[in-house]
Amino acid sequence: MSFSAIIGTGGYLPDRVVSNAELARTVDTSDEWIRSRTGIRERRVAAPDESTCDMAEQAARGAIAAAGLSPADLDFIVVATSTPDLIYPSTACLLQKRLGIRNGGVAFDVQAVCSGFVYATGIADQFIRAGTARHALVVGADANSKILDWSDRSTCVLFGDGAGAIVMGASDRPGVYLTRLHADGNYAHLLEVPSGVSRPSADPHIRMHGAEVFKLAVNIMGDLVEETLAAAGFETTDVDWLIPHQANERIISATARKLRMDMGRVIVTLDRHGNTSGASIPLALDTGIRDGRVRRGELLLLEAVGGGFTWGSVLLRY
Ligand code: COA
Repeated sequence: MSFSAIIGTGGYLPDRVVSNAELARTVDTSDEWIRSRTGIRERRVAAPDESTCDMAEQAARGAIAAAGLSPADLDFIVVATSTPDLIYPSTACLLQKRLGIRNGGVAFDVQAVCSGFVYATGIADQFIRAGTARHALVVGADANSKILDWSDRSTCVLFGDGAGAIVMGASDRPGVYLTRLHADGNYAHLLEVPSGVSRPSADPHIRMHGAEVFKLAVNIMGDLVEETLAAAGFETTDVDWLIPHQANERIISATARKLRMDMGRVIVTLDRHGNTSGASIPLALDTGIRDGRVRRGELLLLEAVGGGFTWGSVLLRY
């Protein structure tokens, strides 16, 4: 039987740092409020001419180099994003061109908001297990700054821009044990950008019912991690690292408590970049690997919840 495994990771954050203090000069908020309610200290904001594909390319090149491959080796590219460069072609096709790939394999985007990266990883895992892809590039990239209402303090302090990427390859040992993916569109109104192509409106910004999202996220994450471990036949104590979606430190610590995991076994990076949606898990994973905390052979639990609502997890041995 064939499995998929991570063979390289990469990450990219735009140069521009926006601190909590800087935001407090334009909206009625404070560094103390943002840090105590969310754990965020600063976020990165893409340059006016910097797109999701620009950021995705940087992260992808890092992951491809770490895997010891060249772009021509990739036969599957999926980009998880809610902020594509264009309506079409997909950001994945734009990225494929940037990487100089001609006559390539599959390239498409996945739209599952903050759960996009776990969705994309789950899909890539299926293709590799089935033997229809050999080397998959999975990117999570979002330019949230372009859809934020910078006068709305309840959202503009929470989000940031960035990209993270992994390269997955076939392996005769796991690798990915399983992915669990879920959605419930009945919660759509709690977190949305209420404008689109076939139903345009005057409001193309992120709108959120924060307190409801918070409660739902804590419950969903708690149930999800238990369901994932039970389905794979692992105990909480088997997990070396929890690598959660980076939205709010209080949601992350509630999930860790449910798993009875010490926060020393949780990768937290949101203090430096806020909620980067699809990019948040691969950025945290890349950080943990590059700073030497996450080592080969360790068991990782990736989990996310996002607009839709969507949620999902990946349990894998690195
Ligand atoms: N600075 C100061 N005050 C703010 C603020 C800000 N940036 N944003 C909101 N407030 C105010 C509100 O106006 C409200 O005031 P009111 O009580 O006078 O109406 C009050 O703070 C809300 O306080 P509280 O309910 O205690 O906040 P909270 O503890 O629920 O924290 C969030 C608010 C948004 C940080 C929290 O609900 C949250 O993180 N939700 C989930 C967000 C998320 O993760 N989204 C992405 C999911 S992928």
